[in-house]
Amino acid sequence: MTEWSDVDADIAISDPPFGLEFGGKAGNYNRDESRVVDGYVEWKTDRYAEKVDQLLDALARNTTANGQAIVFSGKDNSHILHQTALDHETWRLEGKLYWAYNFAPYCKRRPAHNVYELFWLVKGDDWYYSNECSFEHCQEGESNLSVLDVKRNYLKEMPKYPTRLPLEVVGVLLEHFTEKGDLVFDPLAGSGSVGIGASALGRDAILGDLNENARGVFESTVESLEDGGNVFPDRSNTRP
Ligand SMILES: C[S@@+](CC[C@H](N)C(=O)[O-])C[C@H]1O[C@@H](n2cnc3c(N)ncnc32)[C@H](O)[C@@H]1O
Repeated sequence: MTEWSDVDADIAISDPPFGLEFGGKAGNYNRDESRVVDGYVEWKTDRYAEKVDQLLDALARNTTANGQAIVFSGKDNSHILHQTALDHETWRLEGKLYWAYNFAPYCKRRPAHNVYELFWLVKGDDWYYSNECSFEHCQEGESNLSVLDVKRNYLKEMPKYPTRLPLEVVGVLLEHFTEKGDLVFDPLAGSGSVGIGASALGRDAILGDLNENARGVFESTVESLEDGGNVFPDRSNTRP
């Protein structure tokens, strides 16, 4: 993450570790973890603010002068991300979005916090935004970027990556915040959802992850999609 320089991306979309000593295996998942790959790199809770600051520096350094960033956060440490963004010398916190998702295994046992926060960071006033996309949430009623209501999907019989982002969440963000041909950067890419979504929508992507096992999940996902899988099965049309 910190080694990157001169990527010059139009946008960074990145989902950092939670800082919860999360291992991505049983106990966290409450489901069959046998296909979940090892090697997920977590950030220690007591160093979380420092790591988030390093991430925001890396994203600032590797995006264009008018570049922007969208950074995901679970609920437990989102206050740290929020404060770090407010204090950052390059980024300005332009807004906050929420991704509301289903997490059925937990809902059966206790009240669940089924929302991720997404911090939308900009450098100046000349950022790109489109008010419509081709995904469901923009096709019904008024487009609403405050809440993205997107279900988590589970890939059967495939290697799994802890905290894999659904491609649809990535697709919605890409269509609202980027144009075709833009370059997207994710230095914490895991299974590479950001890159797979970007490629399917005609954007380029540069990805990285410290976990060497992440590449295998990325490659098997790409292979399954090349085999006739549809990157965005629920997409209603192909507007932007
Ligand atoms: C929440 S996961 C990202 C999941 C990804 N969005 C996906 O869809 O699969 C965070 C990732 O950051 C990686 N990571 C943690 N520290 C890192 C670092 N310093 N440099 C690169 N990757 C790192 C972890 O290995 C993990 O894959």
